[in-house]
Amino acid sequence: KLGKRKVNILIMGRGSSGKTSMRSIIFDNYEPIDTRRLCATNEIETTHFPFLGLMLFNIKDCGGQDTFFNDYLSHKRRHLFHNIDVFVYLFEAKNGDEEFTKDLKQFQSLLSAICKGSPLVNVFCLIHKMDLVKPDQREKLFKDRENELINISKPAKISCYMTSIWDESLYGVWSSIVNRLMSNVHKLENTLKLFAEEMECDEVILFERATLLVVAKYVRVPPSDEKRPQRVSKTIKNFKAKLDRNKISHDLFEIKLSRLTIFIHKFIFDTFLMVVTRDTLTELISFNIKSLKAHFS
Ligand code: GTP
Repeated sequence: KLGKRKVNILIMGRGSSGKTSMRSIIFDNYEPIDTRRLCATNEIETTHFPFLGLMLFNIKDCGGQDTFFNDYLSHKRRHLFHNIDVFVYLFEAKNGDEEFTKDLKQFQSLLSAICKGSPLVNVFCLIHKMDLVKPDQREKLFKDRENELINISKPAKISCYMTSIWDESLYGVWSSIVNRLMSNVHKLENTLKLFAEEMECDEVILFERATLLVVAKYVRVPPSDEKRPQRVSKTIKNFKAKLDRNKISHDLFEIKLSRLTIFIHKFIFDTFLMVVTRDTLTELISFNIKSLKAHFS
């Protein structure tokens, strides 16, 4: 059992930094292009999202205009920053040093208020809209921003990511968030490991069915592309949305890619199980996925 609980998630950042876009892509099946139609968020928009049927994400997307910030840090301070499990702050990558310094100050005031009200909070900083930065400047810009953020956040520990709605990076961030929230993910990973070793599969990954975020995984043979789980999340999510629109069932997919076979089966607790194998005994693997499902049920 994974434990049923309410998880409080706060998403903040300055106006137009991409908060609602991120939330809509991960939790509402938006395509990146659809986010161009989004309007500025007025104060705070709260949404609830049941995750694995065992956690309830309580997501607060906080509008980023300056007047709202003053209100968050004064009138709303006592309630807003209490009992937060996850704090996600978005910085626009293309902002120059002056804008970034303003953003840092704002982030620092919020972080200090949150750490007081929620000492166990997990903090994620996104250097977002990275697609607007020239490819050869991205790595250095990210490292500089990350170093500065880590320094000013001390003693709080933070995790930084470079992201864009135009690639698979947001799936990586949110899968890390999920991983951080699951207290007994190791048990789940051990079962996946036993299965992968026994069946000599390259990789076994459990995805949440609606968001396609990675819940747990075991990699026996590392893929040449280390971003594969995130790319699979994005690809399958888009594919599933098309099947949904056409009312086609998606209980299982089987994809053959040169020497690899990839199985994606509807699994327990609102998940999909993905198995990557080079084995030709595909029927046996399919049968064993069903046995594994029975083991969990
Ligand atoms: P407020 O509600 O005003 O606080 O804004 P927000 O942070 O919720 O921003 P929103 O998600 O509404 O996005 C603002 C604009 O940025 C939209 O036109 C998005 O399409 C665009 N956007 C979001 N993420 C990205 C990204 O990664 N790259 C690029 N190029 N544009 C993005």
